[in-house]
Amino acid sequence: MRGVRPAKTGRGHVNLEALNKVAIAMVEPGRGILAADESTGTIKKRFDAISVENTEDNRRDYRELMFRAAEAMKYVSGVILFDETIWQKAKDGAPLVKLIEQAGAIPGIKVDEGTRPLHGAKPGELVTKGLDGLDKRLPKYYEQGARFAKWRAVIDPTNLSYAGLLANAHALARYANLCQEFDIVPIVEPEVLMDADNDIDTTYAVTEWVLKETFQQLYYLNVALEGVVLKPNMIVPGKKAAKQASVDEVAEKTIKCLKACVPSVVPGIAFLSGGQSDELATAHLSRMNEIGGFPWKMTFSYGRALQAAPQKAWSGKAENVAKAQAAFLHRARMNGLASKGEWKPDLEKQAA
Ligand code: 13P
Repeated sequence: MRGVRPAKTGRGHVNLEALNKVAIAMVEPGRGILAADESTGTIKKRFDAISVENTEDNRRDYRELMFRAAEAMKYVSGVILFDETIWQKAKDGAPLVKLIEQAGAIPGIKVDEGTRPLHGAKPGELVTKGLDGLDKRLPKYYEQGARFAKWRAVIDPTNLSYAGLLANAHALARYANLCQEFDIVPIVEPEVLMDADNDIDTTYAVTEWVLKETFQQLYYLNVALEGVVLKPNMIVPGKKAAKQASVDEVAEKTIKCLKACVPSVVPGIAFLSGGQSDELATAHLSRMNEIGGFPWKMTFSYGRALQAAPQKAWSGKAENVAKAQAAFLHRARMNGLASKGEWKPDLEKQAA
């Protein structure tokens, strides 16, 4: 039989009401999450693409311009930060976390420490690191203003074993359990990658398996689903697949898969973009919300699909800040509309 959650944990009872309130705010229709939590290595790749040197000041300047984009931030419910950013101050000395709060968004923190080879059943499988010491880091992040966290597991749909999948799902559940103990809403992100040549039905089958195992592990570890936000991939074919899918097919298969796997007490689902083009990431989300008929709120938690345009517009130059903020506003507004099923392709043309 399932163990009963103890009334007291190391830090007192789990404050489900507060967790639930934050989770609901993160997925409020019309808004979504800005994933600005690129590690120093990942942001280097993004900066390389726009010929910007990957320095601490450039990372700060770039992120500051987004957090100060008041109009765009109206469509942002929460911001996921990398460890460096949560402690960073803006040029004028204001903590970046305060800028996010002043813009009406909730600060969050990426707490996983990337991946390492699992050396398990299949060569090439990865497992996410970062559980060691997490119970020491979480209260510090809370004190600094973080009310939610993120942990990303990475699954390659063309190379997976049950052992690898289980290790990743279990780590997600350990992380989620710890977050809730420290009054932090866990974003549970089991990402099935979209980079390979697999067809859409393979993505469906693998995502279904991963989600079922993830929710099983969350259940075993007594994670309160009312205080969780799920961050899944959409059901798309791999980027190199011979046959790509229509917006309708992606929307229908994604809804079907999630309905088969995600309990209805989960307040919301905030998708990753995973390398989809800006417009497709928006179109898929909007179509799903237009179709409706599911019990959760569905919104975005995009990194690339929100930031590619502002990054390009900025290109590391102070004189381009306003242009970058305008590009950010456009994508944030489009995705805000998509979270209500109200985006139309014509809206893209009007802005172009
Ligand atoms: P993308 O939207 O670029 O996939 O990033 C979202 C994210 O946070 C991945 O962990």
